[in-house]
Amino acid sequence: MALFQAGEEGVTSDLLPLIMVVASEGRIEEEIFLTSFLWEEAKHVEFFRRWLDEVVGAHQDLGHYLTPSYRQLFLAELPKSLNALKTDQSTAAQIRASVTYNMIIEGVLAETGYHGFRESLESQRAAARPAPGHPAVVARRKSSHSIRSVSPSNRPDQRNARRLAGHERPDE
Ligand SMILES: [Fe+2]
Repeated sequence: MALFQAGEEGVTSDLLPLIMVVASEGRIEEEIFLTSFLWEEAKHVEFFRRWLDEVVGAHQDLGHYLTPSYRQLFLAELPKSLNALKTDQSTAAQIRASVTYNMIIEGVLAETGYHGFRESLESQRAAARPAPGHPAVVARRKSSHSIRSVSPSNRPDQRNARRLAGHERPDE
């Protein structure tokens, strides 16, 4: 989670130079895509910070979880390739920034992280819960549908936190 939090902060704070370049060149479709992307990344920062604060109570410095290779990619290569666009808007510089951001950071590292999340959640579900169709599951679903409309634990932030913690399936 510390790696995700740091990564979300990195991609949020470093994307702006690329947006400014595509905007200055009148590439409106790419500007729309990247500004939407930036908004999403900002929401991810907020979500993971809230999860660390409110679900696990991790208020301490988590920097010791960042490995040397992670630091090189997120704290050196990512800002360097994006910030280079402030003085060099050439096609080569844009490709370097986009490959670093979209192909390496998002396409390789974030996707690998998502895969790890999915594997972890699936193994927790398999170990802790009966299979779908089991009477206990069916009964719980039926009762939860009627309880949900009045339950304060149905707030979206609480439900997301419970899903991340593996206590609730997305379709419940
Ligand atoms: Fe993100």
